Amino acid sequence: MLKLVVFISGRGSNLKAILSHIEDGSLKAKVCAVISDKPDAAGLELAREAGVPAIVIPRMAKSRSLAEFNTELATTALRYSPDLVVLAGFMRVVTTEFLSAFPERVVNIHPSLLPSFKGLHAQKQALEAGVMFAGCTVHYVSEEVDSGGIIAQAVVPVHPNDSEDSLSQRILEKEHKLFPAALQAFASGKIKIGDTGKIQQETHSLISLY
Ligand code: GRF
Repeated sequence: MLKLVVFISGRGSNLKAILSHIEDGSLKAKVCAVISDKPDAAGLELAREAGVPAIVIPRMAKSRSLAEFNTELATTALRYSPDLVVLAGFMRVVTTEFLSAFPERVVNIHPSLLPSFKGLHAQKQALEAGVMFAGCTVHYVSEEVDSGGIIAQAVVPVHPNDSEDSLSQRILEKEHKLFPAALQAFASGKIKIGDTGKIQQETHSLISLY
């Protein structure tokens, strides 16, 4: 059973998708804890409803440094001995203090076809660039934002009359399928944790599925 710790900052719709794929048996994993930097993140309630410990670690407590904040995130997640750490809408920069606790074990979902449109407002960036296809990427997390190795991608068309909201919604629907599918690829051993070399071959089937 693949043990996950999920980090969120907001509504938690990807967390919800992960939990419901676990519930229906299509993702053989367990969410051991959900950690949020925001006490009012709606996703915390989803965790509680699923009987998962919901933990809040505010960024600004005791006006500490980013390094101290990251050390607390790592120390807390380590208590659950996760196989993978999942960033699902976690809006804080993670530093080496965090990443070195989970080498090659931190994954994120980003609402663009990386390496295009890194950072905030990826869907708006895609519209402004005039691209005809957009999508989402599950990738390893490295210190540089949205730049770690690509694990899986899904594509959506951009419509001529799209707004940021309509494109975001179309991408989000794909995120909710792609993220659980990518995690299941780890759970089944199709992708070996830490083996970043062969990922593109192993996840090609995920790409064609969506
Ligand atoms: C998603 O669009 C994800 O790609 C991005 O943040 C958003 C999180 O949404 N990293 P939710 O909290 O999972 O609903």
